[in-house]
Amino acid sequence: MPIRSVPLLLALLVLAPAAPAAAATESGAALVRTWCSGCHRERAPGQFERISDIRKTPEGWVMTLFRMRQVHHLALPDEVHDALVRHLADTQGLAPAEAAPGRFALERRPNVQDLDLGPELGVMCGRCHSLARVALQRRDADEWLKHMHFHMGQFPSLEYQASGRDRPWWEIASTKLPAELAALYPLATPAWRDWQARAKPELAGRWVVVGHVPGGRDFYGTAEIRRDAAGEYRAQYALTEVGGGALAGESHAIVYTGFEWRGRGTLGGHATREIYAASEDGRRLTGRWFDPEHSEEGGDFTALRADAPAEVLAVLPQALKVGTGAHVVVVGTGLAGAAAPSFGDGARAVVARREANVLEADVTVAADAAPGNRVVSAGAASGRLVVYRQIDALEVRPAYGIARVGGGRIAPVTAQFEAIGATRLPGGELVSLGPVAAEWRAEPFDEEAKRTADVDFAGRLEANGRYRPAGAGPNPKREFSGNNVGNLAIVARARDAGDALEGRGHLVVTVQRWNTPPIY
Ligand code: HEC
Ligand code: HEC
Repeated sequence: MPIRSVPLLLALLVLAPAAPAAAATESGAALVRTWCSGCHRERAPGQFERISDIRKTPEGWVMTLFRMRQVHHLALPDEVHDALVRHLADTQGLAPAEAAPGRFALERRPNVQDLDLGPELGVMCGRCHSLARVALQRRDADEWLKHMHFHMGQFPSLEYQASGRDRPWWEIASTKLPAELAALYPLATPAWRDWQARAKPELAGRWVVVGHVPGGRDFYGTAEIRRDAAGEYRAQYALTEVGGGALAGESHAIVYTGFEWRGRGTLGGHATREIYAASEDGRRLTGRWFDPEHSEEGGDFTALRADAPAEVLAVLPQALKVGTGAHVVVVGTGLAGAAAPSFGDGARAVVARREANVLEADVTVAADAAPGNRVVSAGAASGRLVVYRQIDALEVRPAYGIARVGGGRIAPVTAQFEAIGATRLPGGELVSLGPVAAEWRAEPFDEEAKRTADVDFAGRLEANGRYRPAGAGPNPKREFSGNNVGNLAIVARARDAGDALEGRGHLVVTVQRWNTPPIY
């Protein structure tokens, strides 16, 4: 090595930021000082310009740090990145009540109606991304204004794209909106002050779990959650699929902000991501798990501490037809007891298994049983069951779905529909029966879709109501070698009712989404 480069090397060693190994020991504020203060001035001890004036979810911080790396070329080692997301989400996060309205976006629920923040924000911001992305942040007016400057600076063609000339976007965004956004989502709130002051729930212990995957799969069982040496959580799942077999799983989770459970694991051999929220009292975990590569494929998850006060989490199935029988599973806490369980008037039960957290029984409903709601009682807990004569209405959910063709590196995005039945009680009340078995078909949504034969090109509808889109075009078989997009009606016909009983949903099969950030 030529001698003249030694001083340079020494200088680099001195200037080199803390080694990644230091991330675990260095305090959060010290990490921000080391890695961020070169651009974000420390205006007072531990107070950094821009950074200290915003609160957001772990996913929000991940998106910001992605930008610091990608756009502003910050070379941030992964360990430091992860430690920073923890520190920032813990000290500048959202309280449970603040995060609640936008959780659907964190959980990456497909085909959910976005938040309604009035006509102006809907068009100003909702034209590019979900309003949940906005609702999951807290800032004062001057910070919202800076964020508008960032939008214009990073996307200078903003006013010309996405039908942007419908209004003076920049003028509105830079004058009246910052105050409006600050009134809706201010930096300092009683909710956050209270949450910061509270002791955070400890989640280790034994839990009762129920899960529902749209398309007809229900799970129940237990989770054993413990803390590992690093203070992170490890969960072991022992689940049973209703009408199926056993399903084991495990996950490794970090809990941010004292309640935001983010896990990675496997279930039945498939990789999973878990986005759950612990309730403020630490007795309940709710959310959604999904396939990391296909966030639209996943299920609803609820867990209740096994020692929580008696409660029925689920009765599976939740509806029984008169004159029939079914194997019914009741999941919850406090279900054991001396008294025989009851499924209500007109229902006879033969108990097959009974423990504190699960009750299985073969239940027969008399042919002349009165239709209506029944109270299911077991031990100290009670739940609900519906006894019905006939299905009177069928609703397809989602009413409006989106699927995306696949192509190149981008996998297709499927759309899962469910048929939700309802029965009309003699008194006239319409009562939901939950998901019911249905036969599915796709039809052209309108005349134009019929003319362009969208049903033939856009993909296929599987027997359980999942639409699998086709590969991306151009397709020489289509008019103008068009893409395999489609405008379809998704029709469900209840197997249990007359031919006339159908429900209809709308499906648009559209092009790929090239960019999928953590908060759509
Ligand atoms: C190389 C300079 C640079 C470094 C280093 C840097 N930033 Fe930034 N940061 C910027 C610039 C420029 C902006 C304004 C434009 C934008 O928002 O992307 C910004 C904006 C921000 C904002 C406001 C974004 C918003 O939501 O409106 C946050 C928060 C932030 N940075 C966090 C960080 C953190 C945390 C670090 C350290 C890990 C960091 N930055 C390091 C340049 C930097
Ligand atoms: C032209 C499209 C477009 C419009 C219009 C738009 N946004 Fe965004 N916004 C984006 C993109 C793209 C990102 C992601 C930027 C990134 O992280 O690189 C983003 C990110 C955000 C974020 C998260 C940024 C972070 O670092 O945490 C917030 C909050 C946000 N926008 C608020 C708004 C608000 C409020 C409006 C309406 C006044 C709005 N946006 C309008 C495109 C848009």
